[in-house]
Amino acid sequence: MSDHTQRDWQTEGMAETMVIGHLHHRDTSIVVTTDGAMPRIAYLGKFLGAAELDPSHFSRGVLGGGLDTEIHATLLPQASSGWMGRPGVQAHRTDGADIAFSFLMHRSHRSDERIAMELVDEDNAVELYIDVHLTTSGVVEMFARLTNTGSAPINLTAMRLSFPVGYQASEVLTLGGRHGMEAIPQRTSWNRSVISVENRTGRTSHENVGLIAAGTEAFTEHIGEVWGTHIAWSGNFELTCDAVSHSLRTVQAGELISPGEIILEKDQSYTTPLIDVAYSCHGLLNMSRTFHRHLRALHSEPIHRPVILNTWEAVYFQHDLETLSDLARAAADVGIERFVLDDGWFQGRRNDTAGLGDWWVDTAVWPQGLTPLIQHVRSLNMDFGLWFEPEMVNPDSDLYRQHPDWALNGTSDTPLLGRNQLVLDMSKKEVRDYLFHHLDLMLSTHDIAYVKWDHNRPLVGGRSAAHTAGTYELLQRLTSAHPHVHFESCASGGGRIDFGIAQYVRRFWASDSIDALDRLQIQRGLSTFMPLETLGSHIGSPTCHMTGRKHALSFRAATAMFGWMGVEWNLLSLTDKERSQLAHVVSVYKRFRPLLHSGDVFRADQIDTSLHIHGVIAPHRSEALISVSKIKSNPNYHSAPLTITDLNAESMYSLEVIPLGTPRWSLHRELPGWVTTGAVLSGQQLTTVGIPLPPLLPESSVLIHVKEVVA
Ligand code: DGJ
Repeated sequence: MSDHTQRDWQTEGMAETMVIGHLHHRDTSIVVTTDGAMPRIAYLGKFLGAAELDPSHFSRGVLGGGLDTEIHATLLPQASSGWMGRPGVQAHRTDGADIAFSFLMHRSHRSDERIAMELVDEDNAVELYIDVHLTTSGVVEMFARLTNTGSAPINLTAMRLSFPVGYQASEVLTLGGRHGMEAIPQRTSWNRSVISVENRTGRTSHENVGLIAAGTEAFTEHIGEVWGTHIAWSGNFELTCDAVSHSLRTVQAGELISPGEIILEKDQSYTTPLIDVAYSCHGLLNMSRTFHRHLRALHSEPIHRPVILNTWEAVYFQHDLETLSDLARAAADVGIERFVLDDGWFQGRRNDTAGLGDWWVDTAVWPQGLTPLIQHVRSLNMDFGLWFEPEMVNPDSDLYRQHPDWALNGTSDTPLLGRNQLVLDMSKKEVRDYLFHHLDLMLSTHDIAYVKWDHNRPLVGGRSAAHTAGTYELLQRLTSAHPHVHFESCASGGGRIDFGIAQYVRRFWASDSIDALDRLQIQRGLSTFMPLETLGSHIGSPTCHMTGRKHALSFRAATAMFGWMGVEWNLLSLTDKERSQLAHVVSVYKRFRPLLHSGDVFRADQIDTSLHIHGVIAPHRSEALISVSKIKSNPNYHSAPLTITDLNAESMYSLEVIPLGTPRWSLHRELPGWVTTGAVLSGQQLTTVGIPLPPLLPESSVLIHVKEVVA
């Protein structure tokens, strides 16, 4: 057979490729095609018009040296279509036989914003549903559901959704770090390589944020194309950028399933976590703003975000009514609006070796219960929040003594402890019922507005799927039973920050380090996908407990303001000067809170590496609050000027330095004029020429308010 004849046979054998749907919104287009088998996202990127939708434009043809068919990264790529990279669905029968999936399109449904597809694989007795939704925020949200319709159980080991990015994407940004230093960005060249982010810690983790952003070479905050993918899931996950398989550039995302974790009996289904993709043709910042819009739309009603006093670093486990009442009074005096009792209040909890699981008030420390403290807090016009760590148990607790089998690994001779604790088996209904009962009782019998929900040890060795699903179910029950109570997600700081748990919580504790210098980086990293107002951000004591570094209150405050601000400092130890300065910065925060909590994040590229510049700009560009921090000494006399992108070029803006304490200028003879007298400049000037910055001492900030002058 000649080559020519072979090609003809191949063409005749292929079903025609059709566009199932083209969704578009703002700058983004997404095109889904099928040839009758597994559909694929043929294109996800810059807006396309009708002329660009001919399916043949998305075909690469067939080369020699491989299979005689064109191979695509379909939504769940299958070996039966020739895909030799990571499979979209991987499973075997519990009797051992591998399943070679071969799905055919059954039907699809398309609206302006959604493409829903139903597929069947009759030979393997499974059905598949895939949903691709271009939301009003501009995020493409996808999930898939696999149902076993046959009588033999299926052991599912992977289910990952895939989509292609442009060939021009050659660099990948990931975020990660450690306890106390979360979400630090890392750039990797994406050549002919596979870049994989795998989380096996059983919670979202400190080490790997569930976000991977592929972009054009050296993409910046403002320039370049970026495809950001986030997995809305608080358990194990895998995110992969694969530029090797079939010479495509494919992003794959899914839960990381341990062997035996997901077994589907007849008529049972597995649904993947939501995979959220934000495309930007204007750099990373625009991608972040799309993710922020998406998360902000998750809860329909906006909430008030009170300034918090958290007792943890103020008193740790040293609880007594008198001291905590004094602390509450001192908090109210500086303008705090919510008092959160963190750890140490429940049965046997005198330190971190005991008590987890026994969720009732320890009357040895609180002889009259928590009510006197709560009433005192309420009389000071603050509301009250309480700390729990429901998914955990200390071996030294009544719960463990009664139910050692409720803890994972609990009956083993050498259980692996973390912070002296074990993880409860959240897949057990009786465990969730026990926890619901005790938390519900506390919330029903006390005037509690807020719960800080902690998770202080990793979950090793699989079981994360059931753990996460069980935790979500418990949170769902509690939030439905107590809709007015707001929850915060914490896991030794920022170990559980994702859009999955965001369905149930309104605040995320970003890090156990409240070192203002480190927090600048941590909050910047997290703002890549999380809106700033969701990130708990506290003013700590002058010397940071975690790093031992000393910082001025003005620097600590300037950093904490760009988040959901709180204070975590023993206010009984303050000098009069510190107290009035703290009251001042709390009032500044309250003045700018509406802007800070609704505006668009602004991050400047760190061209001058001695500076860290970020802020928030009002949606219609009428106002901005910008923080400029000197993070290290500069070998140059002058810093680079500040340019604020995104202002209206034709508007005039006034500039004002917002004092947060004694200015921390370094040696100078004369400050730039606008710093002392203020100025009115055009948007064009601010976005292009910029303004000269005052000489800041290292580890200090200046806060600049930019306001449109209406003639
Ligand atoms: C770890 C959290 O990250 C801290 O903020 C604090 O709540 C402690 N746990 C309490 O044990």
